[in-house]
Amino acid sequence: MTVILPNKPKSIKVHRGVYCLFHLILALFFIICIIELRSNVVEITSTFKKVFPELEIQPSISESPKTVLIRYDEGDVTTVDRWIGLIDNFLDEYRTKSETRNVATLCDFKHPPKKGQSCPIDLDNFGPCSPPFYGYYSFSPCVFLRLSEIYNWIPEYYNTTDRLPPSMPIDLIREIKLSNNKNESNQIWISCAGEHDVDKESIEAFNYYPERGFPSYYFPRAHRNNRFLSPLIAVEIVNPKPGYIVSIECRIWSKNLPYKRNNSGERQGSIRFGIMRDELVYEEG
Ligand SMILES: *[C@@H]1O[C@H](CO)[C@@H](O)[C@H](O)[C@H]1NC(C)=O
Ligand SMILES: *[C@@H]1O[C@H](CO)[C@@H](O)[C@H](O)[C@H]1NC(C)=O
Ligand SMILES: *[C@@H]1O[C@H](CO)[C@@H](O)[C@H](O)[C@H]1NC(C)=O
Repeated sequence: MTVILPNKPKSIKVHRGVYCLFHLILALFFIICIIELRSNVVEITSTFKKVFPELEIQPSISESPKTVLIRYDEGDVTTVDRWIGLIDNFLDEYRTKSETRNVATLCDFKHPPKKGQSCPIDLDNFGPCSPPFYGYYSFSPCVFLRLSEIYNWIPEYYNTTDRLPPSMPIDLIREIKLSNNKNESNQIWISCAGEHDVDKESIEAFNYYPERGFPSYYFPRAHRNNRFLSPLIAVEIVNPKPGYIVSIECRIWSKNLPYKRNNSGERQGSIRFGIMRDELVYEEG
């Protein structure tokens, strides 16, 4: 007797095929959804987190430093070379890439870049903070500051002397007075100072190169993902008292930039770092 098999296996096969197809489509949908969601989340978090530009500092040891301590002894090559090496690495991108894109030959207030163009960064414009030593073979080392990138963000400049915030340092107010209402007043100003009185007393002065702010012709940023076209300010820390950790805060000034700090070390609109010049101690006798 032969067993008559009904059409069952075939129908199962068909069912299985449909079932598989269904699952495949479901999986595909799922993947698409995940991708959509992720791109949205990335977008949301990036717009949420990076609404305002933040100050970044070099030399820096980690990507997002809570506090950088720059400790060196200008008479000890290894301690000096460490910091020089870090700054060299950071500036390498500016050196090797700055001629590759749509970069204007000259940028100033009279010659702002054309739409879509960026401004060149000249590394020899940093006075005593210029390569190759960035001030580290002297008593007055330098740090480099730049802003994290926020596209289409336009600063509101402190470009007149009326209604300046009371917390603004006097030397910066003087600077704004000098450029009052001229094109030069349109900058995101910067000020560095010792954090506490004892720190203030431990530093002679701060000098800023090429100037004391990020000029308006850099905003809004023209190119994405070209950090090496982001303007830099070199800050010379003049003669910090040797043998002490001197705590320094640098702050950016624009009317639409909030300034916040709290006890857990979180801050907005400023950056904090320490500098320590080791003193050679000669034993007497
Ligand atoms: C000031 O800026 C405007 C607009 O960018 C420009 O046309 C003008 O030449 C500038 N003036 C000076 C003195 O730089
Ligand atoms: C000062 O800044 C405001 C906006 O930030 C701008 O509208 C105004 O033209 C600027 N003044 C000068 C003299 O450039
Ligand atoms: C400090 O500020 C950050 C960010 O604004 C916040 O996440 C954190 O909870 C704050 N910490 C304290 C102790 O207020």
